[in-house]
Amino acid sequence: MSARIVHGGEGIRDSVELLRQGGVVGLPTETVYGLAGNAFDPMAIARIFEAKGRPLSDPLIVHIPEMGWLERVVRFSSDEQRNLVERLAANFWPGPLTLLLPRRPELPDLVTAGSEFVAVRVTSHPIFQEVLRGIVSPLAAPSANRFGRISPTSAIDVQLELGESIDLILDGGSCKHGLESTIVALREDGLEILRPGPITIDQLKEYGHVSSHDGMVNTPGSLPGHYAPKKRLRIIDSDIIPLPSEDRVGLMAFDTSFQEINDQCAVVEVLSASGELKEAAANFYGALRRLDESNVDLILAQSVPEEGIGVAIMDRLRRASYGSLHGTGHQDFNSHA
Ligand code: TXA
Ligand code: MG
Repeated sequence: MSARIVHGGEGIRDSVELLRQGGVVGLPTETVYGLAGNAFDPMAIARIFEAKGRPLSDPLIVHIPEMGWLERVVRFSSDEQRNLVERLAANFWPGPLTLLLPRRPELPDLVTAGSEFVAVRVTSHPIFQEVLRGIVSPLAAPSANRFGRISPTSAIDVQLELGESIDLILDGGSCKHGLESTIVALREDGLEILRPGPITIDQLKEYGHVSSHDGMVNTPGSLPGHYAPKKRLRIIDSDIIPLPSEDRVGLMAFDTSFQEINDQCAVVEVLSASGELKEAAANFYGALRRLDESNVDLILAQSVPEEGIGVAIMDRLRRASYGSLHGTGHQDFNSHA
């Protein structure tokens, strides 16, 4: 039977109760929906991995409601580190920034996949915050999709992805940012962005030198081939390419500039008619999911300007297209159910 979708105060109470008993619950955050379990309950953590079909080598982000809870899961290695984290927290928390910090040994190994570092963030979503304060424990929560697939940005998406393997889904409407948090590691020489997201390089610059990888890196979980639709996906920069005649083609348009191909495509999703990157990010996964569920054979995705959150959109698009480019990826991910 598929997990129920619940709402409001009663939904929050039911979620807290289930989480207390070691259950796993789909919860809304400001980025994407997460699949949450008590971070200090190894059985609950194991269920998260099982429900997602996620390899145990791929660690989970721990969520807390405020900076004051940080030392339940983190042990700072120096006062300097603590100062920097306090400054970052003052500006970006609650919000879509995840920091990689030295873990406390009490945290179950499963959460960090054995690493000495834990990824932590303070979510700004009021419903997630209430659940955290209700259960009075940090919650580990990866995005609530099957491993390697499209992240969910609504309660229904979570039900479609994981309904059969989780206990409950708490509805908090659609996600404001629509793309996963920016993940940052603190290095000797500054900040390293491990995953681009809503908090941009420019915003981080005042906290030290910022490095980020161009193209694809294989930090754990940031695999090329992530965020993959079942359909083939190709990124396009130009409007005048000849469409393959044997395929039914869907278009994920950034704005309304691609008129030529527009008319030839069976399904068209426009991310932002006015070409605003934030709006495009918020609509991105939903549009990708609808195209994937439609009867097209091939998805063409218009590239977006690589500035601000556009960096994160292009990162996700490249990963989404990886399987199509390399012939194996999307088929592999189909077998991860
Ligand atoms: O916005 C988000 O961050 C969402 C919401 C639900 O909070 N969460 C999310 O989690 O995107 P997930 O598990 O789908 O992606 C987390 C990424 C993975 O690539 C994982 O490998 C990496 O963060 N990560 C988590 N803990 C880590 C650790 N201790 N060391 C290195 N990478 C870590
Ligand atoms: Mg994910």
